Amino acid sequence: MSSIRAVRGVRDILPSEARRWQRVEAAARQTFEAYGYDEIRLPLFERTELFARGIGDETDIVKKEMYSFDDRSGESLTLRPEATASLMRAYIEHGLQVLPKPIKLYTMGPMFRYERPQAGRYRQFHQLDVEALGEPHPALDAEVIAMLLDFFGGLGLADRLELHVNSIGDPRTRSAYTALLVAYLEPLKAQLCGQCRERLARNPLRVLDCKVPECQPVIERAPSILDSLPPEAREHFETVRAGLDAMAIAYTVDPRLVRGLDYYVRTTFELKTKDLGAQDAVAGGGRYDGLIKQLGGPPDPGIGFAVGIERVVLLLAQAEDSAFVQRGPRVALIPLGEAALRRLLPVARSARRQGLSLELGYGARKLPRELERANRLGVRWAVIVGDNELAKDEAVLREMVSGEQRRLPLGRLVDELRTLGQAPAHGEEGR
Ligand code: HAM
Repeated sequence: MSSIRAVRGVRDILPSEARRWQRVEAAARQTFEAYGYDEIRLPLFERTELFARGIGDETDIVKKEMYSFDDRSGESLTLRPEATASLMRAYIEHGLQVLPKPIKLYTMGPMFRYERPQAGRYRQFHQLDVEALGEPHPALDAEVIAMLLDFFGGLGLADRLELHVNSIGDPRTRSAYTALLVAYLEPLKAQLCGQCRERLARNPLRVLDCKVPECQPVIERAPSILDSLPPEAREHFETVRAGLDAMAIAYTVDPRLVRGLDYYVRTTFELKTKDLGAQDAVAGGGRYDGLIKQLGGPPDPGIGFAVGIERVVLLLAQAEDSAFVQRGPRVALIPLGEAALRRLLPVARSARRQGLSLELGYGARKLPRELERANRLGVRWAVIVGDNELAKDEAVLREMVSGEQRRLPLGRLVDELRTLGQAPAHGEEGR
């Protein structure tokens, strides 16, 4: 019989990689909580209409990339392609606007987009998503960007990333600038790639994002959206930049950074890397001051970002040196025979209840096999109990690397292991 494989664009996160995921998630929680963000957990699917209204009917995500289906009662549902629209839905539904503002929330988990899979791009991928609601002040924009950078700093990845910032004004700017851009691009249409010609008709701002070399000369000479900003948006952007400057945060102003979701106004930003090939955006976000109202809620402003976890994990894997040692169990308890097993079962349980990570053999394998297994697991100490030891209620404690052994009373074993457990294992110093 043939075996069944995972769906295209969907990955398993195997134990060898899961440690990195845990590191990323722990760093995120630590940084976000330092900035006063609380966790919110959201459903993986929503009514299709939420994303159509929130992200925009004409965006690539809504037009081409959603996993939508009718459930058994005929309602159209969609696996979330991002978290912002869902989070706004929850904000409105639960009346969270009564909380002291800004209301700061984060969430993490899988998102689904029917994109062409390649390295760093998947159909089920994972985001860390952060949103701050109800505060229009531009200092918040600078603070949110600082938090994003601090998260990467905590993982030792800050110097692998470049911050790009832009302002796309208000919704009127967007339509005025779109008209300008179309007027500029229309006569040059023949010089654009097929996809850009199609974008020109449907969603002209996306032309600015095109990476095809033949389009670059045209895009480079396109009018800048920054020249179309109304005075209030210009001032907002200047204050954001002043905030970043005050924190000595380096950035590039990138007037082509218009982002692929329709809800953005004013500040937009992205973190890019040169180390992941074509999938160079590790995080992206911006302000979306009209979105909550558009979804039927109060006219509260908002700003946020999402980080692509797979891409962070790829960067971490590149950054880690080969000396990286997995944090596995540190101790293996090796009973030789049934009676020794029965003596060690409660000892193992008691040690584990005190937070020690240990492996227990079942007494059926020979000592050399057990030691070999302990070695492969990378444990630091083996505790061996055979009939001789059992008779004296003792154990042999063996340091795996040196092979040095000593005896100690079984009654003292857990305390001894706890003391030893505080010492770092090989390769773990400084982690
Ligand atoms: P986004 O730019 O569509 O923004 O996605 C954010 C990040 O998710 C990207 O920079 C990338 O790292 C990762 N990502 C996106 N698609 C994929 C994929 N197919 N495979 C792997 N990683 C991917 C948003 O989703 C907005 N909701 C961000 C936001 C929050 N804006 C305001 N608040």
